[in-house]
Amino acid sequence: MQTDFSQPDYSRGRYVYNAFCAECHDSGQGGAPTLDDPEAWESRLLGLPSLLMDHATEGFLTMPEKGAHADLSDDAVRDAVHYMMRQVARSE
Ligand code: HEC
Repeated sequence: MQTDFSQPDYSRGRYVYNAFCAECHDSGQGGAPTLDDPEAWESRLLGLPSLLMDHATEGFLTMPEKGAHADLSDDAVRDAVHYMMRQVARSE
């Protein structure tokens, strides 16, 4: 299992995102920040990337732990966050 943060697996991240995260993060459902809205991420990105990872794997306010898919590994969720951050950066 890949655990090196410097080597995110973007293709797995995209797969995980589309399968488990897009339902909220594409539509903004429940106040979820969307990938085409860098401003929604600005204050969140002031946090350490590792903090975003922790929030994604452990839950944060209305964001459910692992997007309510407890069967996902922490690594898979981290790859999804890497993918999300890359997409947000590209939409700027
Ligand atoms: C059921 C809806 C839902 C699903 C599914 C979901 N999210 Fe979220 N997510 C949210 C909401 C709502 C927020 C905003 C939380 C807040 O700030 O109140 C959020 C926030 C986040 C944040 C920002 C956390 C922070 O520190 O500001 C990250 C990162 C994130 N989600 C990643 C993911 C990943 C990765 C997945 C898939 C594994 C996922 N989310 C699936 C609803 C969802």
